[in-house]
Amino acid sequence: MKLKPNTILFITSFIPVIVFKVVSRVGEATLAQAKVATVVGLILAGIQFALSKRFIKHTSYLEKTFLGFLGIGTAWVYLTPPRFSSLFVDHSTMLLYFALFLTTLIPQLFGYDPFTYTIAKQMAPERVWNTPQFRTINLHLTYFWSGIFFTNFLLSWLGGGKPLFSILIPLIIILGIGLPGVRIYPNYYLKRQFTSQPIDPSLLPDTGKELISQMPLGFHPEAAGHLKAEIQFDLTGRGGGKMVLSIAEGQCTVREGETPSPTLTIISPADIWLKITRREIDPARALMDGLYEVKGDMNLLMKMGDLFRPPMKVKGKEVTQKEEKRVKILAIQGSPRPKASNTEILLQEFLKGAQSQGAETETIYLKEKDIHSCVGCYTCWAKTPGVCVYKDDMPELLEKVRCCDIIVYATPLYNFNMTSLMKAFQERLLPLLDPHLVKSGDAYRHPQRYEVNRKMVLISTCGFPEISHFDGLRHIFRHIERNGGVPLIGELLMPAAELLKQEGLRENIQGVFQTSYRAGVEVIRDGRISQETETEIKKPLVATDEMAEMANLWWDSHLEGITQGKPTQGRTEDMRLLLRGMAATFNAQVAGDLRATIQFEVTGKQTGDWFFSVENGKCTYHEGKVDSPTLTIKTPSEIWLSIANKEMDGQQAFMEGKYTATGDMSLLMRLKSLFGSQRS
Ligand SMILES: Cc1cc2nc3c(=O)[nH]c(=O)nc-3n(C[C@H](O)[C@H](O)[C@H](O)COP(=O)(O)O)c2cc1C
Repeated sequence: MKLKPNTILFITSFIPVIVFKVVSRVGEATLAQAKVATVVGLILAGIQFALSKRFIKHTSYLEKTFLGFLGIGTAWVYLTPPRFSSLFVDHSTMLLYFALFLTTLIPQLFGYDPFTYTIAKQMAPERVWNTPQFRTINLHLTYFWSGIFFTNFLLSWLGGGKPLFSILIPLIIILGIGLPGVRIYPNYYLKRQFTSQPIDPSLLPDTGKELISQMPLGFHPEAAGHLKAEIQFDLTGRGGGKMVLSIAEGQCTVREGETPSPTLTIISPADIWLKITRREIDPARALMDGLYEVKGDMNLLMKMGDLFRPPMKVKGKEVTQKEEKRVKILAIQGSPRPKASNTEILLQEFLKGAQSQGAETETIYLKEKDIHSCVGCYTCWAKTPGVCVYKDDMPELLEKVRCCDIIVYATPLYNFNMTSLMKAFQERLLPLLDPHLVKSGDAYRHPQRYEVNRKMVLISTCGFPEISHFDGLRHIFRHIERNGGVPLIGELLMPAAELLKQEGLRENIQGVFQTSYRAGVEVIRDGRISQETETEIKKPLVATDEMAEMANLWWDSHLEGITQGKPTQGRTEDMRLLLRGMAATFNAQVAGDLRATIQFEVTGKQTGDWFFSVENGKCTYHEGKVDSPTLTIKTPSEIWLSIANKEMDGQQAFMEGKYTATGDMSLLMRLKSLFGSQRS
């Protein structure tokens, strides 16, 4: 491995203080010796500082802190009386932690770059230095290090300078908490930032150039305010071109060509920009990975997500957000576990799709509302027409229902029906109906008390893989439709929805997100969810038997205490479940006529042997060992699970020897494409 000058100089920056500590401590450790030690340390720190200035663009605060510390120390031991000067030597470690604590705390308070920012700059490419993400991550990490140095300072102080407290435990904290924190946090932060789900590519323009030329259609003037800017796109490769977006006075226009002084220039392969717009890749991560380049105002780049909605394809024409009055969607969410709900996942993707077409949306979580059940007193029909006896949250909700254009009922399936929360809500809609019986077609119904133009969408998820579980609910909604005269313009019904929480099925789950998003687009664009979309969402993520096997494995794992989390948490924690899930997402098309066995020899927390057998376009999962496997992967369970949960990069883990593979290495390289197929 070839070390860069940055890295070498970062490592050597510790030498002066180490030499100082060693020299001042060897032998009798007299004051005279300490005086020599400070001078030697100071000279080394001076050399280090000069070398850094000479060979690297940005010196970190470490060199300055060490130079300052040794400079003050030298002055201290030479210029003060012996009784006082020995204090520096006796407490030098504690003082060093304190100096580091101040270095990590003070600069950012006075507008200077934070501590880790200056170090990270030496490691990261220049193009990312000014991104808000890079700055924020480093600010957080700097405060994290303040905490570490302050803890070490306290330990050293309270421990009376004993090596256990001033060296051993602090070192454990630095190596065991500090360094892993620095490695893990940036990915964690970026992952949390990028929570958007991909947009179905068929809804977006096909080439980068078309995409840019349609960006003004998705322009959001409110977000732009008084912004005046020119954004130069230089999209390379197929479907690329040079385009300029001009933003001024709440308007956005586009033209081909170049502008002499762009506010922001984006140089990107056309396909990368398409992927970013489709939300398949995180723009900040892609920039850090050098997939595209940016010059100019980075803040404008970061604002682009607010300034532009993705321009959608429309049959025959493109959507302009300003064309029509915005459709109001009121979503009623009836899951008793609203924030960890499967139904919520579908609902929010659906709403995002609708928003992309200009709809205005609001979600009501019934679990958070005070809604008394209907007592059947009919006061709302007789004594106070249209007004219920209960003054809970329902009167306000009735107003919202009356004002919306589309009401979305999103309920999990409970006992083949809607949840009791949803049922209570629907019963309390009674004041909106008139008591009389009026014949409509071949049946009588209650007419609406007020004029109604709204439409209705049903979204539901259930646990079992059979779609027939929804039969009762669908039947009920047909009645609601007929009785209330509110047309049902689509239903998104997803069976086996607990699989939405299986990280191992991530690729398949993306398909569900896309379908839900498309449903939202269709409802606004076409006035209803298409048959195709309704059918698509009903397809179980994996085959019925496999799903049952995975569910049973999950419960076994839960009962055995391997899966620690509640059923609502999305991390895969069980190797069996993970491998079972992998086998279920086997991509027969990619495999072709592949015949192979893949052995997993798993050590660590969850020891065991499992293997896949691939034959005739099928992959089966087995426990135990197979004779002469085509590929053998030996891994600690924690490593493979981290890779599957996207907390660790598989290739990097392999390079670092965190797991090993023997046999057909080309098969190892193909694993990613062989598993994780979309539903067929
Ligand atoms: C009390 C109860 C009853 C359920 N009844 C059914 C059912 O009849 N059929 C079914 O397939 N799933 C049933 N389930 C599973 C849920 O429908 C399924 O887990 C759903 O995705 C949960 O949605 P949520 O995460 O949005 O709350 C039931 C769950 C509970 C807690």
